[in-house]
Amino acid sequence: MPSFLYKSDPVRGRQWAEVFQRQAAALDFRIWPDIGDPADVHYLAAWEPPPDIATRFPNLKLLFSSGAGVDQFNFAALPPELPIVRMVEPGIIRGMVEYVTHAVLELHRDRPAYRRQQAEGLWRPLPVRTAGERRVGVLGLGSLGQAVLQALHGLGFDCAGWSRSRHTVPGVSCFAGADELSAFLARSEILVCLLPLTEATRGLLDATLFQHLPRGAALVQVGRGAQLVIADLLTALDSGQLSEAMLDVTDPEPLPPGHALWLHPRVQITPHIASMTQPHSAAEVVLDNLRRFEAGEPLIGLVDRMRGY
Ligand code: GLV
Repeated sequence: MPSFLYKSDPVRGRQWAEVFQRQAAALDFRIWPDIGDPADVHYLAAWEPPPDIATRFPNLKLLFSSGAGVDQFNFAALPPELPIVRMVEPGIIRGMVEYVTHAVLELHRDRPAYRRQQAEGLWRPLPVRTAGERRVGVLGLGSLGQAVLQALHGLGFDCAGWSRSRHTVPGVSCFAGADELSAFLARSEILVCLLPLTEATRGLLDATLFQHLPRGAALVQVGRGAQLVIADLLTALDSGQLSEAMLDVTDPEPLPPGHALWLHPRVQITPHIASMTQPHSAAEVVLDNLRRFEAGEPLIGLVDRMRGY
């Protein structure tokens, strides 16, 4: 009997198992390390696949990432023809919309500044601007970036998005490619990073990029830690080029105790919780992809290895 092997958090794995038992009884759903006969493993969902995947599972047909990102995969260690699928599922999208909407509203309504004022017992109103007067920019127009922009647009923010290739999002000014990045940055008072980690985005959030933002801009980093040059962020915050940073991802993770980011008064940190794969909706999406695979239809979230996401 062909099996579907799950190698990620086992508690969530049991929730996946319930959905598979109901909807895919012909598949033997197994949770790592209970792999059964490795030759039966046709499908694998993993956060980190085993290093010897190519030799260990000779009949593997599809590899799913249990998360939105695939930067934790070593593509070179995977069989070259093996299709890799990212997690694109409604639960992870909803979580990200909540986190980013909350972060943008915090920054827009000066909550960090009021918290500092409160610590000093200061009653001092700051100018209030409407959402329509606040320009928000989202780097990355995948399923997460687009959903976040729709929500922010719904709240009335003046929204723009940037991505490598041209996209269209209703109500949002879309910028594309390296040539349009500085124009996008120049109008982003609150910059949200939702890019995947690739060789092109590693270290992208650096001094040069910050220089292109309007003075006093704020950063919401929900991409990957290695995209941010921490020393450049601290310099930009100290010079006033940036006013605030909200970071859900850092490099390294966890951030070591006593690190300068923990202590900075204009940095807020959360421990990579912005959004998580929700087991039930994820299992449904994976089952839909299995059906698509069997029918020869395009897979949702298929990774382009050359692009890196
Ligand atoms: C979390 O960062 C994910 O990739 O799902």
